[in-house]
Amino acid sequence: MNINFQSSNPAASLPLPPGDLGLPFIGQNKTIIKNPQKFIEEMYQKYGSVYKRRFRGKNYIYFQGYEAIKFVLTNENKYFTYFQGFRNSKTIFGQSDMTLLAGKEHKDRQKLLAKAIKSKTLNNYVNIIHDLSQSYFLKWMKSDYVDLYSEINNYTLDILLKLLLGIDYASQSEINNSLTDMKSGLNTVPVAFPWTKLGRALESKKKLFNQFEQIIVRRKKENDFGSDILGILLTVQEQINQELTAREIVEQMVNLLFLGRKELSSALSSFLILTSEHLDILKLLQIEQEKLDSSEPLSLAKLKKMVYLEQVIKEVLRLAPPVSGGLRRVIEDCSFQGFRIPKGWHIYYYISSVLQDSEIYKEPERFNPERFNSVNAEDKKKPLCYIPFGGGARECIGKEFAYLVIKIFISALMDNCSWKFQENQDLTINTFPVARPAHKIEACFRPR
Ligand code: HEM
Repeated sequence: MNINFQSSNPAASLPLPPGDLGLPFIGQNKTIIKNPQKFIEEMYQKYGSVYKRRFRGKNYIYFQGYEAIKFVLTNENKYFTYFQGFRNSKTIFGQSDMTLLAGKEHKDRQKLLAKAIKSKTLNNYVNIIHDLSQSYFLKWMKSDYVDLYSEINNYTLDILLKLLLGIDYASQSEINNSLTDMKSGLNTVPVAFPWTKLGRALESKKKLFNQFEQIIVRRKKENDFGSDILGILLTVQEQINQELTAREIVEQMVNLLFLGRKELSSALSSFLILTSEHLDILKLLQIEQEKLDSSEPLSLAKLKKMVYLEQVIKEVLRLAPPVSGGLRRVIEDCSFQGFRIPKGWHIYYYISSVLQDSEIYKEPERFNPERFNSVNAEDKKKPLCYIPFGGGARECIGKEFAYLVIKIFISALMDNCSWKFQENQDLTINTFPVARPAHKIEACFRPR
């Protein structure tokens, strides 16, 4: 009798994507870390849209180009789930971090957070963002030169913690050092002693979490939830009966902070760097600002009228996407373009490979905000072709919030200041893992 053993998994018989896994455990660490962007672009030339590599002891498949990335983004929860690349992320951020959730749990959490950082609630934050921006400009105008990235990074911390938990000027407090310690512990040897990086990270976490928890406990006790993001979360939770513990809320807040701060710092500094080489574009931005009715108070409706500013922001995020890519874990064997994508392996999708695709964006290397006007609308050519905020089930939930902060910051800057950079500075932007200036940039701000 002939027994025909047929695999229930059609992908099992397919070959793995091309590529070289390198040495076991070490893999390609050195080549990838030295110049990640160059490495990724060379691999694309050599192998095409999917190829395998080993990185930090794990098997990866890299996905590049429109079709490949669409496959990743549209198969969340079916074939893929989010993967936190940091070794100690659970120890430092805790278990209720929304990026660790999947399926319905993830969707519910997204919905809850969306209530506080999306749509109409954003109107509550307009004046706070505007006033804090102004206070930074006043400070900058008093100095000869300021360190651009470091100042912007203080600003984004202050904005986020003011809006998340009502904390003023966090950048000038112990919180800033605690966050730095926590960040330093993310990828280190997972051994926690007072003298190790992880030990210091956990000590700082304890202090920070206690401070944040006290705010929550106090607000609940006084039955005065407040109108910031925490306040909205507490109110919504009560309405929908989805009670998170104070610790879970803190984890959520810290999660938002870590997922939003460096991205916002990146976008704001790249905006100033990239437009510094395009005075014609700055002029058009200025004209748009001057056309607005100065007696009309700032609001979401007024910001909506800044159409050209929005186009320029989009172009900055296309050319220098703050987040270089996303990580996933394969939860089910599948296939792409005839290659097997095995369960248990990891995925990295590379955002710039879509944003710089010449079939989607005409002359993709050119800084041209007009590509986003209503006639050209290059970002609407096909679904998932404009992805600085990712896409699909895990698209960034801070997207509208990020546009709000960037728009208010830049329009207030244009109203109040003129600025220039110190001569002959290297304005290179490093793109990995988060885009930021490669070198210190000194900028001078003066009243307009
Ligand atoms: C210009 C600014 C920003 C950019 C370019 C950006 C980009 C991204 C990208 C690409 C992802 C998806 C990553 C993936 O597919 O693995 C993401 C996810 C996320 N972002 Fe942002 N982000 C920005 C600002 C923010 C802000 C301000 C917040 C919160 C205050 C935020 C919160 C989040 C969260 C919570 C996720 C995870 C979503 C999930 O797993 O469902 N982001 N962001």
